[in-house]
Formats: sequence, structure tokens, C-alpha cells
Amino acid sequence: PGPYRTILVERRGRTALLTLNRPEALNALSLEVMRETVEAAEALDRDPDVGCVVITGSGGKAFAAGADIKEMQPRDYMDMYLSDWFAAWDRLGRLRTPTVAAVRGYALGGGCELAMLCDLVVAADTAVFGQPEIRLGVIPGIGGSQRLTRAVGKAKAMDLCLTGRTMDAREAERAGLVSRIVPDADVLTEALAAADTIAGMSAPVAMMAKEAVNRAFETTLAEGVLFERRLFHAVFATADQKEGMRAFAEKRPAEFRHR
Ligand code: CAA
Repeated sequence: PGPYRTILVERRGRTALLTLNRPEALNALSLEVMRETVEAAEALDRDPDVGCVVITGSGGKAFAAGADIKEMQPRDYMDMYLSDWFAAWDRLGRLRTPTVAAVRGYALGGGCELAMLCDLVVAADTAVFGQPEIRLGVIPGIGGSQRLTRAVGKAKAMDLCLTGRTMDAREAERAGLVSRIVPDADVLTEALAAADTIAGMSAPVAMMAKEAVNRAFETTLAEGVLFERRLFHAVFATADQKEGMRAFAEKRPAEFRHR
């Protein structure tokens, strides 16, 4: 994979950092950004030495200010339909490796949707979230109407999608969109620390925990609880369950082997 033109990919131990790198366009999500981000993320997902992926935006002013408006402006229905515009983003939601969005500044439209495709959202106190597409005469197209509603409920999702107004970080945290808020200067440090913690856990068990939580959005309570119970039983087939519980008994930190 790579080299990439619109993103940067770095490895820091078992954590990978993927940075959207179009600061001059507030990291607007062009098709090229989509292709590169999805390709890089899938390559990291396949790498057994990567335990967590952090996604952030360069420049400090924006995580991403949305899909690239200039690129979409001239398109007609057939262009959008035949190219299945934005469909590749769905693949990001299917990664097994946990993902953390580190959000500074604007996370608007596709930027908010990208943050919601990640498992945790660590936000700066200055972050701004919204689905302002309606102001452009369009609606969200990377799952915003669905994931925002599941994250914050109908009342706020309707407000944001119909008026195009934005939410500051506090409102977004109260509403359930954001996992943690930290001072702007600390966002990346905090997100990387959370990622290192996750990457230090047993990789297969972290994958199963992610799968179990995500199942809550796809099924009934009884089926979801049954799915969790089956996975819970399954973790007893891992060496890492033996190590984790033995380490507890021996009063030492667990050393997971990701098996
Ligand atoms: N697409 C393309 N270019 C964008 C962009 C976007 N979404 N957002 C910002 N830019 C560009 C600007 O055009 C500008 O480029 P130039 O210097 O070449 O003019 C540059 O980034 C800097 O932006 P501004 O000068 O506008 O910066 P600002 O600080 O004055 O305003 C802002 C910041 C309020 C975020 C403003 O840029 C803005 O409103 N951006 C668009 C937000 C938006 O509507 N997002 C939704 C897009 S549609 C979508 O995402 C569909 C979907 O569901 C996937």
C-alpha cells in the first residue's frame, strides 16, 4: 500500500496513526482521500502487529470539514449512482481492529460521519460537530442520518440534520457522540494513549469486544445478549484469557500474546 498523496501513515509500536493531510482544504474528504484512507486502514487491519488505529486531521483547524464540495458540485444523479459515491467508506466500519478518532476543530458533514465510523471519539474542547449538508441542498451520505441518530437520539439528530446547526464538544459529549474531551493541545496524546492501552490488550479479545458492542446496533436485545454470551464463552479458547486471569492471581501485569 502507498505511497499516499493525501494521508500520512505512521507506526508507533502497536498503534498506527493515520492523518488526513489536506490542511489547505480543511482535510475535505475527496475521492482520493477516501480511496487512500480505506486502502491504508484495511492494510493496517490485516497487519497482526497493529492493535489500534488512530485517525486524525492535520493542521489543527479541522478533523475534516466534510466531503469535498467542489468535487461533488458538477455531478449528476447517474455519476453518483454509477460510481456508488462514498460507498467505499462503509469498509471503514467493517475493520476488526479498534479505531480512535482524534478530533480537533471542525468535524462537519463527512468529517462528523468519519468520526462516527470510528470506535472511540477523543475530542478537543474546541471541536465542532455537525451535519450541515442541508445548507448545501443535500443530505448526509456517509451514514450520518443513521449513526448520528443512534449516537445522540432523534431529538438532536433531527435538529442537526434539519437546521444544519453545529454542536460544540460539550454538547456532543453530553449527547453521547464523544468518548472524552481534553484540551486542544492534548488531543493527539490522549488519543494515542487510549490507542496504546487498547493495543496492549489481547487483539482477538479486543476484536470480539468491538464486535459485541457493534452488534447492539444491528439486532434485538435478546439476540445481542446471546451473541455476547457465545463470544464470552469463545474467549476461553484463547491463550490470552489464561494469561490474563493467571496474571491477576499472581498480582502482575498480563502479557498478552494476541492469541
Ligand atoms: N469541501 C471542499 N473544500 C472545502 C470544504 C469542503 N467540505 N471545507 C472547506 N474547504 C476549503 C475552502 O473552500 C477553502 O478553500 P480556498 O482557500 O481554496 O477557498 C479552505 O478549505 C478553507 O476554508 P474556509 O476559507 O471556508 O475556512 P473558514 O475558517 O472561513 O470556514 C468552515 C470553515 C466553516 C468549516 C467552512 O470551510 C465550511 O463551511 N466548510 C464546509 C462545511 C460543510 O458544509 N461540510 C459538509 C460538506 S457535504 C458532505 O460532507 C456530504 C456528506 O454527507 C458526506
